[in-house]
Amino acid sequence: MDKAEAGKRIEVLRQQLEEYGYHYYVLDKPIVSDAEYDKQMQELISLEAEYPEFISDDSPSVRVGGEPLPFFEKVEHRTPMLSLGNAFSEQDLRDFDRRVRQAVGDEVAYTCELKIDGLAVSLLYEEGKLVRGATRGDGTIGEDITANLKTIPAIPLRLKEDVTLEVRGEAFMPKRSFDQLNLAKEQAGEEKFANPRNAAAGSLRQLDPKIAAKRNLSIFVYAIGSIEGKEIHSHYEGINYLRTLGFKINEESKHCESIDEVIGYTTEWLEKRGELSYDIDGIVIKVDSLSQQKELGFTAKSPRWAIAYKFPAEEVVTILEDIELSVGRTGVITPTALLKPVQVAGTTVKRASLHNEDFIREKDVKLGDSVVIKKAGDIIPEVVNVLTELRDGSEREFTMPTHCPACESELVRLEGEVALRCINPQCPAQIREGLIHFVSRNAMNIDGLGEKVISQLFEHQLVRNVADIYKLEREALLKLERMGEKSVDNLLEAIEKTKQNSLERLLFGLGIRFVGAKAAKTLAIEFGTIERIQQATEEELIAVNEIGEKMASSIVRYFSTPEVSELLEELKQLGVNLTYKGAAPIAGVTESLFLDKTVVLTGKLHQLTRDEAKEKIEALGGKVTGSVSKKTDLVIAGEDAGSKLKKAEQLNILVWDEEQLLEVLHS
Ligand code: IVH
Repeated sequence: MDKAEAGKRIEVLRQQLEEYGYHYYVLDKPIVSDAEYDKQMQELISLEAEYPEFISDDSPSVRVGGEPLPFFEKVEHRTPMLSLGNAFSEQDLRDFDRRVRQAVGDEVAYTCELKIDGLAVSLLYEEGKLVRGATRGDGTIGEDITANLKTIPAIPLRLKEDVTLEVRGEAFMPKRSFDQLNLAKEQAGEEKFANPRNAAAGSLRQLDPKIAAKRNLSIFVYAIGSIEGKEIHSHYEGINYLRTLGFKINEESKHCESIDEVIGYTTEWLEKRGELSYDIDGIVIKVDSLSQQKELGFTAKSPRWAIAYKFPAEEVVTILEDIELSVGRTGVITPTALLKPVQVAGTTVKRASLHNEDFIREKDVKLGDSVVIKKAGDIIPEVVNVLTELRDGSEREFTMPTHCPACESELVRLEGEVALRCINPQCPAQIREGLIHFVSRNAMNIDGLGEKVISQLFEHQLVRNVADIYKLEREALLKLERMGEKSVDNLLEAIEKTKQNSLERLLFGLGIRFVGAKAAKTLAIEFGTIERIQQATEEELIAVNEIGEKMASSIVRYFSTPEVSELLEELKQLGVNLTYKGAAPIAGVTESLFLDKTVVLTGKLHQLTRDEAKEKIEALGGKVTGSVSKKTDLVIAGEDAGSKLKKAEQLNILVWDEEQLLEVLHS
């Protein structure tokens, strides 16, 4: 194939793939097999690789995700992305209707739409070509997530007409994709997403578009933000026009002539919402006529011509089959209801929290009871109440144990607490939970060491305390099930790396009562070394902002035991860092492009010393390390950068020069 032929073939493939994608993802009516689609996509990708002169940013090949970004640019919306006022009852809807009719008269028609529970985005097209996609942000300024949005196959890269317009819609993750993603996360021992909305938002906030590309996201477009050279008279007409341009439109909307009809629609969907393949959290009601919309105008925050009716949290009835008791890190015994699996708000629920013994008694929960459960955003839902009227006599009383289910020592109820506790410091369940906490993301953050592996190590008695993690040996690990050479080496490397963590991670990881991640950081900044915290008196601790009496006394108590002193000495001998490394953080930095990024500095810098650069990056939440590896996110290459730069290029890691660094630091 010569160049001209390749160019032609590329064009044909692009058109076909967009057409196939349109039928599959927008119309839900595939016209070719998945295999054929994948085959053509592969052909396109290899042709573009061979003939890079034809690469184009609206080629369907961008759907697989391009290179990672260093950060998201901020963008200003041409017209603000407002939010909606809420209605929670029929009365609220009638009040809305009354206000509308007072303003524009009785000739009003509404469009009712499903309120998709995802993430609001804006898509800007110039002459039919997608040029920018952004998050809502604070409504005025959002973030440019074009690269991620382009991976969503239901978002057209080119429209069927060369119009210039901005549209708004809701990007979301279908329930099935969400279940699959969480299953995969569970198997990998990673933290699960609480709901499809968080999963969608999390996916679109990834700097690496390849991740978003794998997340099976979709979109429904529901509004025109602005448009050039076309008159549109009603919302309904606007939506129909968007459909003809190739956008994915939700087909469940309804044109309603009265508020009674609107209320009928909300009740209908409150019941039917479970049947949908995506989550909705309410209904959006919009005045249909655009001239009436204009007359009604806006309040400071939201339009007067629209309102969001919010569904109450979904409640379902199921059977409580058993109660499981777990022993937490601090010895608290928590009862969890094991339920007959049931669908709630789109996901399968098998467990519900019962909190503590008092809760069980107050709600009069018995084994075998029919219970009402509710999901309020959490992974583990709650038992709302028991349907005692459905009892048939076969239900059994549940009594809390008097002894720890893990170590059999007697349980106690500490003064002023509702929880039952195991106070045996040697309790294996507590030790195991403590280890899981120690390696977790906000603590030492040891890659590849999740709950499953910790349990395995614990069962094989390879770790009994946190110091043992740093004594693990290759030979012993290789004998474990599912532990190949590669995974053992990776694990050991990950463990080794965390020896360099700054003090606050260790401090939080130790699991001192009342010391959360934030307090750990404050303590680390304030005292600098673990010895100084260990020697601090209650008064000295309380003198620190944010440290109260309860926490101070807990810290003093923790460090006063000989076991703890021994443990710290052991960690020190093993080479674990016990000092604070980061610079004092700039107040208010919660989102920065360096947050949790691993950066390597190499070569000679002119405007800053290396230490200054390091300090600044760390103050913005980044981690500066000495060598380039797969895990490096960014390399800053100064003058005469040598082997590290070469390695970064080999590994395809993003490289900046000093100018770029300064520009970002100054912004
Ligand atoms: S219209 C100015 N229509 O709900 C009116 N919003 O506060 C703009 N949403 O974050 C919103 N489905 O992202 C509209 N069919 C729909 C919607 C919808 C979901 C979201 C939207 C916004 C929130 C409203």
